[in-house]
Amino acid sequence: MSDLAVRPPETATISPTAMREAMGRFATGVTIITTLDTTGTPAGCTVSAFSSVSLDPPLVLVCIDASRFMHGLLTEGPGFAVNILSSLQAGLALSFARRSAGKFAGVAHHPGCFGVPLLDGAIAHVQCTRHAVYDGGDHAIVVGRVYDIRVAAGEPLLYSSGRFLDIEPRAWDEALAVAPHEWLQSAPW
Ligand SMILES: Cc1cc2nc3c(=O)[nH]c(=O)nc-3n(C[C@H](O)[C@H](O)[C@H](O)COP(=O)(O)O)c2cc1C
Repeated sequence: MSDLAVRPPETATISPTAMREAMGRFATGVTIITTLDTTGTPAGCTVSAFSSVSLDPPLVLVCIDASRFMHGLLTEGPGFAVNILSSLQAGLALSFARRSAGKFAGVAHHPGCFGVPLLDGAIAHVQCTRHAVYDGGDHAIVVGRVYDIRVAAGEPLLYSSGRFLDIEPRAWDEALAVAPHEWLQSAPW
């Protein structure tokens, strides 16, 4: 490894603002992570830092701000659900990004396998047990092991640079039309 031609500087000079601006160029879907607090009350927050990690075993990860209420529930609790939002749920994404109790007031949901709330209208519910927690600087990287998946029809909500995006279904159809057939057969995602 010491033969690497690229030698990064030892002191980071990247500001949080520069990080936010650059990372915002990466478009994501939007999830609401839900769980129960220690009294059994539903809790949840909006998270775009979500990723699939492994197919076998089935693992996913979320990155959660260490200063937020949800941090303790996700890093110490038994598990959580990932609600992948539909393009019709931008309002829900904003309301679950507030720092407040009572986010579930008026929000339709139903209990998952262990009582964790699943939000109606989400295009996928991914229920997980807490598998591992890693240091992620000012965030924690929480890896969940998936034990139940439910999917529903709908288009995903997309997010980039602080804005929700609309994607033309036509753009995806055009990309598929020119994609190599073998690639479509073998792509695992
Ligand atoms: C579109 C969007 C994406 C977000 N993604 C994340 C994220 O990936 N991780 C995170 O910790 N907070 C994220 N947030 C901010 C949290 O939703 C927000 O801090 C919320 O208040 C946390 O809830 P809590 O205060 O009840 O813990 C996001 C907010 C929005 C609007």
